[in-house]
Amino acid sequence: MNIKEFCEKYAINRLGTNCLKWDALDKRYGNKDLIAMWVADMEFKTPEVVIEAMKKRIEHGIFGYSFVPESYYNAFINWEKNEHNYEINKEWIRFTTGVVVALYWFVNAFTKPNDSVIIMTPVYYPFFNAVKDNGRKLVTSGLINTNGIYTIDFENFEKNIIENDVKLYIQCSPHNPAGRVWTEKELDTVLSICKKHNVLVVSDEIHQDIIIGNNKHLPAAIVSGGKYADNLITVTAPSKTFNLAGLLNSHVIISNEEIRAQYDAYAKTVNQTEVNIMGLTATEAAYTHGKEWLESLLDVIRHNYNNVKTRLNEKAPKIVITPLEGTYLAWLDLRAYMDPNDTKVFIQDKCNLAIDFGEWFSEDCKGFVRLNMATDPKYVEQAIDNIIKNINCL
Ligand SMILES: Cc1ncc(COP(=O)(O)O)c(C=O)c1O
Repeated sequence: MNIKEFCEKYAINRLGTNCLKWDALDKRYGNKDLIAMWVADMEFKTPEVVIEAMKKRIEHGIFGYSFVPESYYNAFINWEKNEHNYEINKEWIRFTTGVVVALYWFVNAFTKPNDSVIIMTPVYYPFFNAVKDNGRKLVTSGLINTNGIYTIDFENFEKNIIENDVKLYIQCSPHNPAGRVWTEKELDTVLSICKKHNVLVVSDEIHQDIIIGNNKHLPAAIVSGGKYADNLITVTAPSKTFNLAGLLNSHVIISNEEIRAQYDAYAKTVNQTEVNIMGLTATEAAYTHGKEWLESLLDVIRHNYNNVKTRLNEKAPKIVITPLEGTYLAWLDLRAYMDPNDTKVFIQDKCNLAIDFGEWFSEDCKGFVRLNMATDPKYVEQAIDNIIKNINCL
């Protein structure tokens, strides 16, 4: 399906559906009329095959206790194998009601109060909360930003691990908001540092399927022939890929038996919930039949991002636009045009946009903004128009 056909079929107005992104604008930003380009979900309906599978389930009319069928495991395992060359055993898989929930559990299950947990900043802000809310010590290692291109400061990462006796590293791969799809060399170096210092790795790979550039996403568990698989936990979900976040169905994958037993012992104390029947139905259908839809979606995201890049480069060339290798989140540095303290007024009051502000991801990223590209191109077009018009009036 081309971009126009995809948008005609799948892009819809979400106002009045209790959606966080649009219907909570007033509460969150104090203005209900902003163009919503913040939280990471989309204005696109999930694939028709997914909706059909859910309808069929609904028409049956019974939503009693359920278990995970073999067909579900096959769909998920095949997806990981076909898309990412990642071979998973059924026994390694656990379910959670979300990736963030899982991060909170890992912090509790694998560290003690006051233990240190390291993250690479700027990063998705619940990473900070999962550490701090649980009374652990947050250690940050800043990514190196060279004209908008982010790389890992390996020396600083290792130094911080040693100095703080770090026990756990929460990795974001692909990285939100730096847009990186880490290379095997980068991943190998990070994972080897963690192994050397006995730091357990949690690899949040929720954006695994949103690959925009040429780098291929590499699950941490298969880096360098699977050399580090014993020292890590992988978390994935269909929620970003197929716009299913509200169905609360995510996967935890642990191949190491001992780590899995420790996780299970902890999970037993906090999770007695059975699986969600609609989450399972939607996910199985998406992983079985959703590939074509995903390809069209990626075309739309590439189109939107290229539009941002081309038009802003031409009309507001001092905005630094980070290359988007993965995720659907564009990261822009506006500091050449304004005092970072003025970003909020510029973006919200002048450009009429609701976005994620840089300082949410790292204290030193005030003046950056994150724009969600998984939306109808008409909103992106409007956002660019507003930025160009107002930046040239500064
Ligand atoms: C890196 C990352 N992890 C987790 C999440 C959210 O996951 P969940 O909704 O399953 O808690 C997001 C959402 O944007 C994200 O970017």
